[in-house]
Amino acid sequence: MAGIEDNPVLRPGERQGGVGLRLAIYPGTFDPPTRGHLDILLRAGKLFDKLIVAVAENPLKSSFFSAKERLNLLKGLTEGMDNVDVEILKGLLANYAQRKGAIAIVRGLRAISDFEYEFQMALTNRRLNPQVETVFLMPSENYTFLSSTLVKNIAELGGELSAFVPPLVAESIKRKLRRK
Ligand code: PNS
Repeated sequence: MAGIEDNPVLRPGERQGGVGLRLAIYPGTFDPPTRGHLDILLRAGKLFDKLIVAVAENPLKSSFFSAKERLNLLKGLTEGMDNVDVEILKGLLANYAQRKGAIAIVRGLRAISDFEYEFQMALTNRRLNPQVETVFLMPSENYTFLSSTLVKNIAELGGELSAFVPPLVAESIKRKLRRK
């Protein structure tokens, strides 16, 4: 079995990603983006030179907002954040990260319940692309319970959304529900 010294990523003294821009990808479904996502995004934006928020387009999974709508929402939310870009993610995240020259994939970790899924994804992505590390960030404790699924549920039942999503997202959800 290969030892730690055989892994070029782990050679001591070598800065991952060389001396260039330290770029990270923050991937997700973001259906819809919540205050929790925004919290992670802001933290990651401070850690890396550049952050790409990658909005996963999953043609097999039906979503409340289309990928284009989610992209536009995130573009609206990150307006004025100079080192943050938003793109659609098609295909494998590990390949996308390689194409972009990313050194890290950022994921939010809210609670133990997230761990198994995240652990599995992180190790799979490492196997597919050993050059990229998955980095977990914890959101403010105010958002540890929050999920896009809960937000959709509350919205469909007419609940107040302002504690969970930014106003731009709350408005878009309401507009969409009115059209349904
Ligand atoms: O917000 P989510 O739904 O937890 O995000 C999951 C996401 C989009 C990060 C994951 O499904 C993903 O990476 N999709 C892209 C396709 C891919 O690479 N799948 C293998 C992941 S190990």
